[in-house]
Amino acid sequence: MSHNTIAINQQMDKFDGHHQVWLFGYGSLIFKADFPFIERRPASISGWTRRFWQGSHDHRGTAEAPGRVVTLAPEPGAVCAGMAYLVTPEEFAHLDHREKNGYLRLAIEISFDEGGSEEGLVYIATEDNAAFLGEAPERDIARQIATSAGPSGRNRDYLVGLAEALRALGKDDEHVFAIERHLADFE
Ligand code: SIN
Repeated sequence: MSHNTIAINQQMDKFDGHHQVWLFGYGSLIFKADFPFIERRPASISGWTRRFWQGSHDHRGTAEAPGRVVTLAPEPGAVCAGMAYLVTPEEFAHLDHREKNGYLRLAIEISFDEGGSEEGLVYIATEDNAAFLGEAPERDIARQIATSAGPSGRNRDYLVGLAEALRALGKDDEHVFAIERHLADFE
């Protein structure tokens, strides 16, 4: 699969005809909402776990020196906490562009912390995308993050921004917080 997923995502017609769609964010979409939304709610999805396994060539790294950003890995029984946004379908042009480096839209059941659930969308970068980096020791991931930067800024700011946003939501994430602790060794 090529790096650029815009054309594939535009073919996704699951929510055609809907005036509003729920979007689940678990990475930068939690702490950098650069799109208009109707409302947002703390939420979670089941069966997926957040991992710094995706390469970033276009935001927090370069083609020569990719950074690392989060994607979701399937894991039975896991719950991934994040933020759900209710958006109009027009927002997906911007979102597809922002998430174009390997992320595909997937329909998913979103559970709101305050109760209830809705079917919505999440962007996932699966292991068959060209920018996928995969598993590595968390200290090595921290080293790569500490030394990477791209058009959207320093990779360490993505990591710290995500960790702070999760703390503000009252959520634990062992993987994210462990990498954040290792970061100190390289700064
Ligand atoms: C997301 O935040 O939901 C997707 C990954 C990212 O943009 O960091």
